[in-house]
Formats: sequence, C-alpha cells, structure tokens
Amino acid sequence: MNLPEFAVKPVAADRLPELLRRMPKAELHIHIEGSLEPELIFALAQRNALALPYASVEALRSAYAFSNLQSFLDIYYAGASVLLKEQDFYDMTRAYLRRAAQDNVVHAELFFDPQTHTARGVSMETVINGLHRACVDAEAERGISASLIMCFLRHLSEDDAFATLEQALPFRDKLIGVGLDSGELGNPPEKFARVFVRCRELGFHLVAHAGEEGPPAYVWTALDLLKVERIDHGVQASKDAALMQRLATSRIALTVCPLSNLKLCVFPELAGHNLRQLLDAGLLATVNSDDPAYFGGYINENFTQTFAALDLSARHAYTLARNSFEASFIDASAKRRHIDRLNACFETFCQETGPA
Ligand code: ADE
Ligand code: ZN
Repeated sequence: MNLPEFAVKPVAADRLPELLRRMPKAELHIHIEGSLEPELIFALAQRNALALPYASVEALRSAYAFSNLQSFLDIYYAGASVLLKEQDFYDMTRAYLRRAAQDNVVHAELFFDPQTHTARGVSMETVINGLHRACVDAEAERGISASLIMCFLRHLSEDDAFATLEQALPFRDKLIGVGLDSGELGNPPEKFARVFVRCRELGFHLVAHAGEEGPPAYVWTALDLLKVERIDHGVQASKDAALMQRLATSRIALTVCPLSNLKLCVFPELAGHNLRQLLDAGLLATVNSDDPAYFGGYINENFTQTFAALDLSARHAYTLARNSFEASFIDASAKRRHIDRLNACFETFCQETGPA
C-alpha cells in the first residue's frame, strides 16, 4: 500500500499510545459472548435465578488462566449459559458497543454462537432479535455501526450446522455473514464444505477461524473449499511460505488477536508474536480483541500492548486501521468515509504533536 505522507511521519514512542487510542478503527473479530464481563455474568445469573459454580466475581475472574483454546472454551461456554432472554442478549451487546465506542471503534462485525444457546432451549429468534436491537440502538446513540456474523461450532456435526442455518433463515436480513469457530484441532474446515456452499448460494459473507492452533493446511482448505473472504487468526500461516504468498496476493485479510494468542499460549510471549512479520510480508492483517472479557483487554489494549512489545510504528498503526476498514463488509462509500476520517485523525495528530 502507498501510504500518505502524514502516515509515514515518525511519532515519538511516548506519543504512540495516544494515537493508537484515538485513531478510528473497525473491529472484525469479536465473539459477543466473549465480551461478557464477570460482573454481568453474575448480574444475569441473579436476574435469571441461576446458580453459578463460583462464589464471587473475583473467584470467577481468577479462573481465567488458560493453557490452550479448549481450556478457555470450557469456561466461555459455561459463562454464556446465563443468557436466556432477549434482554440478556441486548444488554451484553449494548455493553460491548459502548465499550468499543470508547476505544474509537466506529464499526464492528460481531460473531455469535447460536448453537450454545439453542442447545439450552433458547430460540434463535430470542438470540438474534436481542443482538440486532442492540446494534440498531447503539448506532442511533453513539454512531457506531455493527453487524452480525453467525458462527457454526466446528466441534458439532455438519447436520447440526445445517439445522442451525435453517433456523436462522427467517432472520437472514439481520445477518451479514457466517463463520466457523470453537475447537479447531481435529475439526478441519472441510467438515463444513457443504454448509458453506449453501451459505454462499444464500449470499452470506464467509469467514472462518483457521490457523489459530491448527496447521497451515486448515488455512488452505478454508480458502479453497470454504471460499472464505477473511481468515480469523491465521497466525500459523507464517509456517508456510506459499500460503503467505497466497494471502498477500489475494488480499485475504487475517483478523489477528494478539492478547488472545498470548492468553491461549499460541505464542509464549507478546514479544514473540508474528504480527510484524505478517505486515512486512504484505498481508492484510488487522488487530482485534477476540474475547476481551476473558483475555485482559479490549481492542485498544491489544494495540498498545502489541505495539510496545514489537516496537511497531505510526506507519504500522495507520496500515492496521486502514486494513480494518478495507477488510470489513461495509459498502465502498462507508469505507471511503471511514478512511477519510482516519486520514484526518493522523493529519491532526501530526500537526498537534510536531516532529518526533
Ligand atoms: N470462540 C470464542 N473464541 C474463540 C477462539 N479464539 N477460537 C475459536 N473459537 C472461539
Ligand atoms: Zn475468535
């Protein structure tokens, strides 16, 4: 990408966090159930007269020590079980969108896991209506736009995914796309090839988690068999030079989640994360929070901690924010409008702070 002059001006290291916080950005990889803070879990449990296996908010939070993806998913699905009524889904989504707006997120594409809820007897209508109403209200209140991506749980069967798709069809105007998440190892993308063919025929945008813990081969099959438009995570791609080339030339975005990767032990330390390598190779990488209530930070925390650990620059900041709009599913005029605002933010920042 040819960057405008203001985007390549150096910014002093002590001023960079302010720029990272202030720049407008899109969040493209956030599981809305992963935004349920322990306080809200307890409040919803009380409202719904449900017992929790933790004595307090602190006891729950202290259980958030994970060794891999599965150890997190067990506790994440348990947390989501307090969601019963449309208002619960609404409150969770409103809370996230308020928090995201504080981080200058101007557009968010939210994953949700309906099977976690329908398996407990909660209807698809309850889930989608609650999430969607919160998105509409947040846009009216804060100007943040948000849309919904329904994820299939890959540890469940193809039949279950097809049944879920069927249940969602009456609400398809409230969804922009479908995704694939949950335990990756042993559940390759090809398990859902036929489901994704059908979703493509229906006109949904397509994304899938691949190459989080799983091998580069899963990224290849997500691209070639599922025909996804973005790869969620995808960090294992750096182990395969031909795949890196494919991702760079096709401009298929990776929605990278650095604090998630750290907390789930994908990388032993943030300083060893490969985000810089992905950007240097010309990939359309973005920064996201994944499950911010569980991984110790919303999107700006992901930016500031990762920039500090990898010694990234204002130029990287501009590229990542711009990539977030380029890779989003908003229309071309909305993209242009957001990128114009991003440019204005960088120009103003440079004028305010002067040379580094
Ligand atoms: N569901 C919620 N967070 C996830 C993640 N990081 N990977 C796969 N499935 C998820
Ligand atoms: Zn995820």
